[in-house]
Amino acid sequence: MAWTRVAARADFGDRAMMSVRCPDQRVALYAMPDGVFATSDACPHMGASLSMGCLVQGYVECPMHHALFDVRTGASDGSVTDRGVRTFPVKIEGGDIYVDLPAEEPVS
Ligand code: FES
Repeated sequence: MAWTRVAARADFGDRAMMSVRCPDQRVALYAMPDGVFATSDACPHMGASLSMGCLVQGYVECPMHHALFDVRTGASDGSVTDRGVRTFPVKIEGGDIYVDLPAEEPVS
């Protein structure tokens, strides 16, 4: 695991979600009232980009088949798939967002 700076907190602007490449995969970042959370940007069902979906009450809705995933835990609502989405620890220092990424992640 390695802390990697992936964005500035200000990069969200007025958006609630954004996708960042860091560096071997895409990670979705979510701006929540209690902090910033990170998941893989790839839906565990068929790989759609979760950051292209909607964020509602702590869940990201996949834009392809509308599965819901808890952005804090990665848990699926079970409506489309039982597979959860991978989550990553996040820390913010000096206005910068860092994600703790496994070093061995394949490119996706
Ligand atoms: S690709 Fe996300 S629910 Fe099917």
